Amino acid sequence: MTLAFEEHGIGVPLVLLHAFPLSRGMWEPQIDELSSASIRLILPDLTGFGETPLAGSVSVIEKMAEGVAGLLDRLQVTKAFIGGLSMGGYVTFDLFRLRPDLFSGLILCDTTSSADTDEKRSGRYKLIDKIEEKGQEALIEMMLPALLGETTKRHNAGLVSAVAEMFRHTLPAASIAAMRGMADRLDNTALLSAIKKPTLFIFGKEDVLTPPELGVSMSEKISGSQLCLIDGAGHYSNLEQPGRFNEAVISFLDAHR
Ligand code: MLT
Repeated sequence: MTLAFEEHGIGVPLVLLHAFPLSRGMWEPQIDELSSASIRLILPDLTGFGETPLAGSVSVIEKMAEGVAGLLDRLQVTKAFIGGLSMGGYVTFDLFRLRPDLFSGLILCDTTSSADTDEKRSGRYKLIDKIEEKGQEALIEMMLPALLGETTKRHNAGLVSAVAEMFRHTLPAASIAAMRGMADRLDNTALLSAIKKPTLFIFGKEDVLTPPELGVSMSEKISGSQLCLIDGAGHYSNLEQPGRFNEAVISFLDAHR
């Protein structure tokens, strides 16, 4: 699978993998600040999202990771900092398992190394039925309110509607295929103690889907890793508090480039 992507800036390569059900467009608030900090920002669209076509009824997370590896090989990038938010984090863990050689370091945002629980999986299948009925509006009604933090919902109506618009840009079939892929993904928790590369965890303090406690417990398993908890942000920490997010990424890369 050839992934669509865009890149910005010159410097240390940083690949950022987007969340569900978004696209590389979610990194818009990162582009100017990161690319002017001597960072070469590489932003792929994962399978079925943005400009990358869908490749079947299940978007397997491991295949997405292979797609990212293929992109880096094509770009002749032999080492990069690689990070992702939520679903992008699941892909990052799988990529680390498949191709640890590609990593200078990891940035794991609002994500988990664990596979879905049975309860989570059955919730996904119920939501898939709703998407089949109502399209992306089902995700906007049933998922989005839990993703954005209370601060955003109270004070940033513009961002709430912009994110809903991003949801509408994704095809329902792509959302369904990715949900099936996420439901089937492997558990990467045993991998954590094998990560010996610089690692930064970023979590919104108001994230209820992947709460900050998950960041605390994962960071305790990777020696020397850093944890940044962001006030006033929910699950989409890069969109909700971009200034604080960008600052954390830039200072981590400055310390490890
Ligand atoms: C995401 O933000 O990528 C998704 O919420 C992840 C998930 O549903 O597990």
